[in-house]
Amino acid sequence: MPEKNIDWKNLGFDYQKTNKSYISIYKDGKWDDGQLTEDNFIKISEASTSLHYGQQCFEGLKAYRTKEGDIQLFRPDENAKRMQNSCDKILMPRVPVDKFIDAVKQVVKANEEFVPPHGTGATLYIRPFMIGTGHTVGVKPAPEYIFRIFVLPVGSYFKGGLSPVNFVTTEYDRAAPNGTGAAKVGGNYAASLEAHKEAVEKGYADCIYLDAKTHTKIEEVGAANFFGITKDDVFVTPKSPSILPSITKYSLMYIAEKILGMKVEERDVVIDQLD
Ligand SMILES: Cc1ncc(COP(=O)(O)O)c(C=O)c1O
Repeated sequence: MPEKNIDWKNLGFDYQKTNKSYISIYKDGKWDDGQLTEDNFIKISEASTSLHYGQQCFEGLKAYRTKEGDIQLFRPDENAKRMQNSCDKILMPRVPVDKFIDAVKQVVKANEEFVPPHGTGATLYIRPFMIGTGHTVGVKPAPEYIFRIFVLPVGSYFKGGLSPVNFVTTEYDRAAPNGTGAAKVGGNYAASLEAHKEAVEKGYADCIYLDAKTHTKIEEVGAANFFGITKDDVFVTPKSPSILPSITKYSLMYIAEKILGMKVEERDVVIDQLD
């Protein structure tokens, strides 16, 4: 199907309704078959755990148009597994990896015309998420869940190519050492809003989170993992239980080690030791 008539080069990261979303419901201990829907609203109980206690998680991945016009996903199995880890952490039912990948494929296919042309820098952003639903007032896991996926075309993250940006450290913590930092749950992002706002107000692109215990070691850079390459070509990235395992970062580590033959170190990165 030809691409839609959209100004691909000037897309930002803003919501727009596309043709169809995917929805699957978990009830009585099992997932239904799932289906595509044109409805981009969700009707749930006002007493849903996702609304009050943050029992929800999400993922983010992209579909790319190749030079030949095909559509490719980048490692959706890794997003499926990471979502399972997030679900485990906050007592939500796992979506099987095959079901997750099949759902992503269905929704991308149904929105094929929104996958931007090759060479524009734009991509189709895919947002799978799960929310606790049903009537629950007490602090406990929900009786029912909704797994949904919507997609939207988004612009190139780096407008005008790769150019350096400045970051500033923050006094705030996005996650505690034994908390939910390694899970992609909304609470971590709520905790990052104030730090991000203050960094932007000071003229920085985003903030650098340090470890919550000692405030000396780099954890994450905004909503991204940190890595650096030393003068002697070692790929260095922080290791911590409160970092979200970035699929991009682990892919780069693989390329660095297995293809480029570089040494890779996942270890403490003390901010004062950076040049
Ligand atoms: C907190 C955080 N860290 C890291 C990442 C990067 O993860 P990935 O490379 O899997 O997109 C994201 C992006 O989703 C994020 O939100």
